[in-house]
This record gives sequence, structure tokens and C-alpha cells, in this order.
Amino acid sequence: MERTGFLQPERDEIRRGPALTPRLKKLADPVREGSSVWDVGTDHGKLPVRLLLDGKVRRMVASDIKEGPLESARATATSFGVEDRIEFRLCDGLGSEAPDLIDTVIIAGMGGETMIDILENARWVVDRKVRLLLQPMSAIPKLRSYLYSNSYTVFGEHLVRERDKIYLCIDASGGGSAESYSFLDARIGKYLTKGEPYRDYLRREKMRLEKELYGADGDHKTIIRTAIGEIEDMIRGSVQVAE
Ligand SMILES: C[S@@+](CC[C@H](N)C(=O)[O-])C[C@H]1O[C@@H](n2cnc3c(N)ncnc32)[C@H](O)[C@@H]1O
Repeated sequence: MERTGFLQPERDEIRRGPALTPRLKKLADPVREGSSVWDVGTDHGKLPVRLLLDGKVRRMVASDIKEGPLESARATATSFGVEDRIEFRLCDGLGSEAPDLIDTVIIAGMGGETMIDILENARWVVDRKVRLLLQPMSAIPKLRSYLYSNSYTVFGEHLVRERDKIYLCIDASGGGSAESYSFLDARIGKYLTKGEPYRDYLRREKMRLEKELYGADGDHKTIIRTAIGEIEDMIRGSVQVAE
């Protein structure tokens, strides 16, 4: 039925869904056909709406800790006519109870420490070997260390450039055994693909370590110095390849 008083999207716009930025596309692309997905901290809701309209997901949950962002996600879904096909939840992280069916969890655009808290409160992600697509904005070495040491398996890490920023997406899953890692593994990632922004990413990490060197002392200073040297070697040896 035609709703009056609202701008109706064009037919093909309804089918295509909201445009995704390169960062969001990098998170949507690896979602497998027929997945049941939970997008935590959905905010604008573009990702769940697009996944649904692309026909990729069997079940879609979109949640946020705040009412305003969740309303914004609902509005996006309404404007594309799919508000009844997404389960909206107002909750912290993955809520307090393990949901049925969910096999993929996306957490993007928030700090690595918040992601650790969310995962720590949802051990079913490990028990059920749920796939995780994470795009942390900060504390990335801490998040990697957490994943390496807490029964997660990291399959790959992918970089994406959006405007003047480089974002990192981690493709992982619950279930696995703790693995050993070095200081450099936590800083750069053990499974990082060498796509286009790779060299710039290495340069950025080197600059961050150079700043950290000022405040460091003792053994930590030596570890940072060694890591900087190793990153310099990686920059020299890196070949820019298209992903
Ligand atoms: C910057 S937005 C990112 C939106 C979207 N995921 C993206 O990547 O474009 C971060 C969202 O995460 C939500 N958020 C922050 N902490 C959260 C938590 N513990 N549980 C659920 N949502 C959270 C915020 O309210 C906000 O809407």
C-alpha cells in the first residue's frame, strides 16, 4: 500500500539498498550466502539492510546500545521497505542470552577494548564457533592479543582505504586453540593480506612505534626498537598488490 506523507524510494533503489562505503563493503562481501547475521552497534543500519536486500542472509539481527542509533537503523530499514525482516534489539553488545541460529557476528566502528568486553560477555561465540567480522577503531594490538590467546581462530586480516584513512577488518571465528604470538604479530597482525594500503599501513604503524619509543624504557624499549627495524625491512621488501 502506498504510504502518503513519506518519500518513496525508487523501485531499483529499494532492490539495491543503501550504498556502502568501501569499509562497509569490506565487511559485507565476506558474509556467506544463507548466513544468520548479528550486526552489533549497527547505528545507521546500512549494513544489515544491504545484506538483506542482496539476498545473502537467512536471518538478520541489528542491535545498538543506544536508542537513537537503533531508531536510525529502523528508519533506514523502513525507507527500503525491510523493517519487518530485521530483528532490532536495544542491548549492550550481544545481550545476556545466546540467541538461536546466529552464525556470523559483525562488530564494526568501535574500539577494540569494547569489542573485547562484548566477546568476553558472550562465550557462546567461542562454543558455537561463530564467525566474526571485526573492524576495530582503536586498541588493535590488544584485540589481536585477545583473539590469539582466547580460543579464537583468525583466518585473515584485510585493509581498506576510505578517503584518507586506512581501516582494518579481521575475519575470525570462535573455537580454536590459543596460539603464540610476538610483539610484532600483535602490532601488524599475523595474517594480514598485502593489499593496496599495506605499505602505508606499515608506515603508519612504524610512526606510532617511534612515538611510543620516547616513553618506553628497559626491555620494552629494546622490543620496540627491534619491531621498528623489522617493519622497515617489511616496507623495503613489500610489493604493492591489488587485493
Ligand atoms: C561509530 S558507530 C559504528 C556504526 C556501524 N557499525 C559502522 O561501522 O558504520 C558505533 C556504534 O556502536 C554502538 N555501540 C557502542 N558500544 C556498544 C556496545 N557495547 N553494544 C552495542 N552497541 C554499541 C554506538 O552506540 C554506535 O551506534
